[in-house]
Amino acid sequence: MIGVFDSGVGGLSVWREIARLIPDVPLVYLADQAHIPYGGRPLDEVRRLTLRAAEWLIGRDCAVVVIACNTASAAALEALRATFPATPFVGIEPAIKPAALHTQTGVVGVLATPTTLHSRRYADLVARWGRHVRVVEQACPGWVQAVEELPARVVCAGDDGLSRLVGDCVTPLLAQGADTLVLGCTHFPFLRPWIERAIGAWQVAHPDAQAATIIDPAPAVARRVRQVWLDLAVHCGDAPPAREFWTTGSAGQFAHVASALLGYAISACALTL
Ligand code: DGL
Repeated sequence: MIGVFDSGVGGLSVWREIARLIPDVPLVYLADQAHIPYGGRPLDEVRRLTLRAAEWLIGRDCAVVVIACNTASAAALEALRATFPATPFVGIEPAIKPAALHTQTGVVGVLATPTTLHSRRYADLVARWGRHVRVVEQACPGWVQAVEELPARVVCAGDDGLSRLVGDCVTPLLAQGADTLVLGCTHFPFLRPWIERAIGAWQVAHPDAQAATIIDPAPAVARRVRQVWLDLAVHCGDAPPAREFWTTGSAGQFAHVASALLGYAISACALTL
């Protein structure tokens, strides 16, 4: 079994890539929605919450644990590996390296939570891979919550509300010359249509501007997870693989939003950590 963890539904953007790449492997997804958002919490608090979640996943026999959350990875990956040395952990981080290789303007825009942007892990990443480019950052207030409520949001506030919320963060990066936008939070791929719309609107207003590319590290993380899983050589059996979804919040709300995001119905269970 592979465990996939996030503060909420965002990690499903990684989960769906893993499920697509290794469909025979049983997966258990855990969302700590009782404590969402992680992105505004102090790093040590996120570390404590993440260690507790990982302990639960390992207790459910997960041979690999994927921290499908940039904030939790930034806060806790080293502590997880030190605390549970027998379990391989796969984390996620803003894709500064591919973005720095891709940019033509020499400006990379990073969309992420405040906690990720303030972490030492992120500073190290920029120092290592972003030295020869300009990295401009944007915390995205309200984005995580918008994804957590996406079906209701689209119905109630309409596309305009979301377009404004997303455009207000994307446009300043484009205005600074960014032609490569890194999705540094696993919730953000679900806002991709609105991010693309903001890029399109900028392009119409600035026809000479370089077309901006969006980089989502989820497929690369899924490839890494497959490799780690294959290295363990666990036999899965022939039964259809389990797909479990657990949340520390409301199981009904999780199932409703996750079903909308994945495009098919899933059911979820609630737990208290
Ligand atoms: N999905 C998480 C990430 O990748 C953040 C969500 C939150 O703020 O809780 O950073």
